[in-house]
Amino acid sequence: MPPPAPPAELPAELPVVTAPRARRPRHTGRGRRMLQHLGWLPGCLAGRLVRAGILLEKIGNTLRFEHFWRRHLAKNPDVVFVPTFNKQIGKHPIWNVAINRIREMAGDGTILEFGTNNGGWLKYFHERLPEDITLVGFDCFEGLPESWDGLPRGAIKGYGLPLELWRDDPTHREQVLAEFRRTGIWPDLPQPNIRIESGLFAQSLPRFLADGVPQDIRLIHFDADLYISTRPVLDTICGQLGYRYLILFDEFYSVNHEFRAWLEFLDLYKLDDWRVLASSEDGSQVLIEVNTRKDPGRAHRPGTEGA
Ligand SMILES: C[S@@+](CC[C@H](N)C(=O)[O-])C[C@H]1O[C@@H](n2cnc3c(N)ncnc32)[C@H](O)[C@@H]1O
Repeated sequence: MPPPAPPAELPAELPVVTAPRARRPRHTGRGRRMLQHLGWLPGCLAGRLVRAGILLEKIGNTLRFEHFWRRHLAKNPDVVFVPTFNKQIGKHPIWNVAINRIREMAGDGTILEFGTNNGGWLKYFHERLPEDITLVGFDCFEGLPESWDGLPRGAIKGYGLPLELWRDDPTHREQVLAEFRRTGIWPDLPQPNIRIESGLFAQSLPRFLADGVPQDIRLIHFDADLYISTRPVLDTICGQLGYRYLILFDEFYSVNHEFRAWLEFLDLYKLDDWRVLASSEDGSQVLIEVNTRKDPGRAHRPGTEGA
């Protein structure tokens, strides 16, 4: 339907109906009006109430996590369980499951990582995948923008650039770090098929999606820890993908954050065609396949129309 045509001439100024000055908000809800009588209590008590609410939410979400585990992991013989993170093997076992799966899907495609930090994950995946896979890492390189599960805002800042991408060249790596500390600029990445989108996701994601959501995503790695950094990306990107792809959560057992974001995303999009492929024994890293009954996505290549 075409939008309604604007009126030929706009009135000069719209009339404003005023009301008497309000000492406190005039809520129409009875509960809100009753709570107003407690408005004299000190602000720190209100803060404590909010924190108690977060704790209650955490207990509730932990119980939901247990249900989730029983329903989608414990009874499913197809789920691959891998050891919980330790210093010897790191998170390689579940990363390898994801890499094997991507290799099965197709030669090329796009991999996105939200929360790139020093770039260790990108480097591992890059080294084990064909060169026609494009990897894109998103990060503000300023550390966590909010406190998370006991860590303060600004934690996990790393070097402030994805220095691990220069790991094969220790001398050059030192130069890159020294140059970055002096100028705040880092040189071109050594890997031509890795791209970095700097900034808060709220800034970098609209920029990245200016030409639309890629139609050949193989895997999205969520490693930004926070609910506020995970849910918008799930809604914005994953809500628009109608083909088979993978999601790897790095802190899925952080129940008020990645786990909650996942449940809410499923609910929002009424998504039921997904399955857990692999999980660490403690449920921190979880690999999920979405749209399991569909084919993997394909990049739109100019000139292949009707081919
Ligand atoms: C756990 S680290 C990522 C680790 C990384 N994947 C690796 O392999 O080393 C989390 C990162 O998420 C980033 N981050 C979290 N929320 C963000 C947001 N909303 N926008 C941009 N970066 C964010 C932080 O800056 C931090 O570097």
